[in-house]
Amino acid sequence: MLALLPLLCVSCLLLGAQGQERATMWRGNDRSGRCQYTFSVSSPTEASCPTQAGGEEMETLRSRLSLLEALVTRLVGGEVGARGATGPGAVTPQQQHHQQGLQEAYRQAMGEKTQLQREKKQLDRQVQELQRRLEESQQEAERLRSRPCMGPQQDSSLRPVGGSVGLPHLVPSGQTGSLRDPTWSYGAPGYQELKAEVTEVPAPTPAGTADSTGCGELVAIEEPTTHRKADTIAGKYGVWMQDPEATGPYSGSMVWRIDTVGSDVRQLFGYEDMEQLVRGYPTKVLLLPEAVESTGATMYRGSLYYQRRRSRTLLRYDLSSESIAARRDLPHAGFHGQFPYSWGGYTDIDLAVDEQGLWAIYSTNKAKGAIVVAQLDPYSLEVLKTWETNIRKVTVANAFMICGRLYTVASYAAVDTFINYTFDTATNKGSAVSVPLKNKYRYNSMIDYNPAQKKLFAWDNYHIVSYDVRLARQQQRA
Ligand SMILES: *[C@@H]1O[C@H](CO)[C@@H](O)[C@H](O)[C@H]1NC(C)=O
Repeated sequence: MLALLPLLCVSCLLLGAQGQERATMWRGNDRSGRCQYTFSVSSPTEASCPTQAGGEEMETLRSRLSLLEALVTRLVGGEVGARGATGPGAVTPQQQHHQQGLQEAYRQAMGEKTQLQREKKQLDRQVQELQRRLEESQQEAERLRSRPCMGPQQDSSLRPVGGSVGLPHLVPSGQTGSLRDPTWSYGAPGYQELKAEVTEVPAPTPAGTADSTGCGELVAIEEPTTHRKADTIAGKYGVWMQDPEATGPYSGSMVWRIDTVGSDVRQLFGYEDMEQLVRGYPTKVLLLPEAVESTGATMYRGSLYYQRRRSRTLLRYDLSSESIAARRDLPHAGFHGQFPYSWGGYTDIDLAVDEQGLWAIYSTNKAKGAIVVAQLDPYSLEVLKTWETNIRKVTVANAFMICGRLYTVASYAAVDTFINYTFDTATNKGSAVSVPLKNKYRYNSMIDYNPAQKKLFAWDNYHIVSYDVRLARQQQRA
C-alpha cells in the first residue's frame, strides 16, 4: 500500500501546478550577438507538496490513503462475499456499506481524473503557445539574417571588390554604403562553406563577338553548372540575366539579378561579371519604380523588361535613364495566378529573348489556358504577332524561346526531366520532342535562353545555374 504514496504525490504536484499560472519565456542577445532564449518555470516542489510529515495537507493525504486502503480491503472481501451471494436479498448491511464506500471512492477518482484532464489540456495549450512563439522567433531571426546591419563597421567591408574606381557610373557617390546583397549576406559566418559549393565558370563571351548565325533546333542540353547558392529564403526563387545585346552604360558581361520572393519586389542587383556574382558583390543596386511580378523578367538592349505586379502591364525600364521608358498592357493576358506554370509563383507572363527578338509567353481566357506566344516590339512593347499553341500552360514547368521556337519543360521538380514539346512560330506548328534536362536541385523556377551565349540560365532552388545547349545547324544562313 505504500506504493500508492508516490502516485498521490504526483497528482498533488499536478494540482499544485495549477496555481503556477504559466511558464514564461525571455529572449535577449548574448555577447556574440546570438539570440538566447530562457524559459522560467516556477518550481512545483515549493508550492503545495508536503515536505515534512505533518501539516494539514499531509493529514488529508493520510486520511485519503487510509480510506483507499480500507476500500481496497473491502473490495477484495466484498468480491468474495458477492460470489457467495445468490440474490439482492442476500446483501448484508455490511456489504451495503462497502458498496456505498466504493461509490464514493469512484466518484472521487472520477473527479480527480476530470481535474487532471483539464490541467493536461491547459499544459498542452501552453506548450503550443511556446512552440508558436519559438517558430515566430526563428522566422524573425531568419528575416534579420537576410538583412545585414547597416552599421559603420559593416559599410567598409561591404564596398565592392575593386571599388568604384574603374566604373564611376556604376556606383553613384554616397550610395556605396547601401550596396547590399540580402540574399547572400557575405558577412555571415556560413559564407565560406557556401563558397565551397560554388563552381567558377569562365567569363561570358561579350555580346556581339559570338558568332550567332547558327540557328537551329535544340538537340541537347548539357549538365548544369552551378554558379552560386543563396543562403536565405529570399533566394528560393528569382531571375538572373545578362543582356545579349547590351547597350548604354553596362556591358554584356554585367549580370543582373532579382530575388522574387516577397510581395513588393523592386530591387535589381547588378554584378560587374560572373566572378562578382559568385563572390556576391553587387556593383549596382537599382530600385525599380514599380514592383515586379514573378520570374518572367528579361534584359535586352539596355532595358529590363518585366511584368508589373498584379497586372498584365509590361514595363520597359531603361537602364541608362533609370526610368520606365515604355509601358503597355499585354492584351487579354492572364495574370497573378490565372495561367501560371505548373510550379505556381504567379508565373503568368514570361518574357523571353532569342535570336529573333523579344517575346511574351502567356495565356488568355480565349485560348482557354493554352500557351500563347507574342512577338513584341522591344521599343514600344506593342504586340507584333501572336501564335496559339494547344499546350496548356499550367501543365508545363517552364518555357523559353530559341530561334523563334518555343520549348516547354515537363517538370520543375524531377531531377531528370525533358523538354517534351516545341512550337515553331515560322511554321505555326507544334510537335513532341524529347530533350533531357536536369533539375539538379529539384525546384527549377526560372529558365531563360541567352542567345549571345547559347546557354540556358536557370534558378533552381536557391541555386543560380546555367546549361550549355546544342543546336542543330541545319538551318544555318549564309
Ligand atoms: C509533357 O510532360 C508533361 C508532364 O509529364 C505532360 O503533362 C505533357 O502532356 C507532356 N507534353 C507532351 C506534348 O508530351
